[in-house]
Amino acid sequence: MTLNISEDILKVSWIEEGMIMEKIVIEGGHELSGTITIGGAKNSAVALIPAALLADGICTIKNVPNITDRDALFDIVKLLNCTIEQDGSIIKIDSRNLENKLISEKLSVKLRASYYFMGVLLGKYKHVEIYFPGGCNIGTRPIDLHLKGFKAMGAKVTKRGHKYTLNADELHGAEINLDFASVGATINIMFAAVLAKGRTIINNAAKEVEIINIIDFLNKMGAKISGAGTDTLIIDGVTKLHGAEIEVIPDRIEAGTYILIGSLLGNNLKVEGIIPEHNTALFEKLEEMGVDFKIEGNSVILNKCEHLNPVNVTTLVYPGFPTDLGQPMSVVLTQADGACTIRETIWENRIGHYPYLQKMGAKIELEGNKATIMGKAHLKGTDINATDLRGGAALILAGLIAEGTTNIFDIDYILRGYENIIHKLTNVGAKIKLEEI
Ligand code: EPZ
Repeated sequence: MTLNISEDILKVSWIEEGMIMEKIVIEGGHELSGTITIGGAKNSAVALIPAALLADGICTIKNVPNITDRDALFDIVKLLNCTIEQDGSIIKIDSRNLENKLISEKLSVKLRASYYFMGVLLGKYKHVEIYFPGGCNIGTRPIDLHLKGFKAMGAKVTKRGHKYTLNADELHGAEINLDFASVGATINIMFAAVLAKGRTIINNAAKEVEIINIIDFLNKMGAKISGAGTDTLIIDGVTKLHGAEIEVIPDRIEAGTYILIGSLLGNNLKVEGIIPEHNTALFEKLEEMGVDFKIEGNSVILNKCEHLNPVNVTTLVYPGFPTDLGQPMSVVLTQADGACTIRETIWENRIGHYPYLQKMGAKIELEGNKATIMGKAHLKGTDINATDLRGGAALILAGLIAEGTTNIFDIDYILRGYENIIHKLTNVGAKIKLEEI
């Protein structure tokens, strides 16, 4: 078995064990040239890995990103007595000896996506014991819509403290109306429905492209799901699922993050391995700003330009402007010629990065979830802290454009979701490194 652990990940795992603490050090102002290759989508991979356990057999998942969220899920898969073979970004999961056990708080709390084992184990064994999931501090992050779906299919839910126990004599199909087009609830309800008796309909289902990737995988296992990419999913339960193979789609949020970095620092910077139509809302907004980008097949070439038009951004569910790009986008807005606004409508607390941008010299007025950003700001490097995954990526962009040196602390948030970000940026000319504290 070859384990391909990048230098970044090794360091982060040490941070988790409290062995060494690190910061990211950036010397700002350097143009970026060359090619950044995009990896598999975190928000697809973190659902595909638990989904593999629904099969009675061996599943192969290709293009799995090398991020700590992946490793946290591997720990749970191994706890459940499944085996994982890994060859670079290709993993094989054998669930034939799966043992349905309590998933501890220590494991559940490491990431939001641990909750996918709820739908998988309930769907396959009609029983699951698991603790409330973790995830970035961007809001209360309830799971009421997930539980609403499970109960509609016949599950009984018991909650003691943070521990959830779900049981069902039998899971039957149901028509479920989601109050909000929740990505996680859509996926989790699907996981419980694929082996239920009868038809489940999910109305107001989320339409994010990662869900299509997951439906593709489930249907290859023998599930019967239709409506992929629409807001109505129809799942006809089957009795068994067999092993299958899937490839993780490119990460549109990783791609968008580097595209935003390239819009401010690119000098023929190529971001390759993308599916352009997955980032339509971003490209439309960059067009409006006057960003110099050119889409060529599965790549985009970016060149920085002196003047950017001010714009207004509102984050929405897919295919609207993605909430996960709102924080990096807010840094680009600090460089526009005039006043911009960005309104976050998905999460109630995706504003943790703003005080640090203000500390660097950005002129930002916050009103609830709406920020008014006065461009063009001259940012200066200083000591700042990552508050969550995408907020941390935003601060990296701020450090890359700032005058002088920026030190970013609490970096394990960032390395959870961006594969080899230090290497990818260094390779195109950024002066960025990990440094022991
Ligand atoms: C997924 O989170 C992504 N995470 C998030 O990306 C992303 O921001 C989000 O979808 C929206 O696109 C993963 O896929 C692992 P939701 P998820 O359920 O599924 C409320 C990143 O940076 N809600 O669509 O947790 C919730 O509070 C992460 O990669 C309920 O009220 O998001 C929020 O306001 C951050 N009850 C809204 O819906 C529920 O039962 C969106 O949540 C579930 C959700």
